[in-house]
Amino acid sequence: RTAPAVIVAIDGPSGTGKSSTSKAVAAKLGLSYLDTGAQYRAITWWMVTNGIDITDPSSIADAAGKPEIVSGTDPSAPTITVDGTDVAGPIRTQEVTSKVSAVSAVPEVRARITELQRSIASAAEQGIVVEGRDIGTTVLPDADLKIFLTASPEARAARRSGELKGADVNATREALIKRDAADSSRKTSPLAKADDAVEVDTSDLTLQQVIECVVTLVEEKRATK
Ligand code: DC
Repeated sequence: RTAPAVIVAIDGPSGTGKSSTSKAVAAKLGLSYLDTGAQYRAITWWMVTNGIDITDPSSIADAAGKPEIVSGTDPSAPTITVDGTDVAGPIRTQEVTSKVSAVSAVPEVRARITELQRSIASAAEQGIVVEGRDIGTTVLPDADLKIFLTASPEARAARRSGELKGADVNATREALIKRDAADSSRKTSPLAKADDAVEVDTSDLTLQQVIECVVTLVEEKRATK
């Protein structure tokens, strides 16, 4: 018989290895994969591109329903489009990164994106790994397995500046701490560990070790379903 569909929520701040881990685990176990940060980045990119005043939450709220965001959930080739345009590159710019916390704090944006995430998860017949900030607490509170990844600010900044090739580690650390503070303190579904999440501190683990740890946890869950 085939393994039962399993829903895995992976949350945590940036630079903890969330995306790399989630993609690898999904690929290894034949599950779909959803990067919810990419969706918030995509709606932010659309707001910036369309001249929405992102210092004004009511302008953001009014525009929240306009762009059509589509996520491809193959972990070996995830995609993201806005109104049919591939935005995988543009959503990673410094400009979008610095504005995404303000846009994603607006309740109308979160309601819209949350609904999209739930429909993607329920359509994933083989199961799915969904990574973000509020997946275990708000988007999929009934997930079969919830993981909360953490790491020291130093480890996170070192990883991020490695990814950004040549970026200054101190500046990266400051920007990252600022974004996490904003994401953790917003009123609507802040970054938080669910009470029933398994916390994994990745500071002193290699990516391979984190992947193995999560794969084992998913396999244990599947065996008891
Ligand atoms: O994972 P990331 O760095 O690409 O996420 C970008 C931003 O999106 C992050 O600063 C906060 C927001 N986000 C969110 O509010 N809720 C999620 N589930 C995922 C991301």
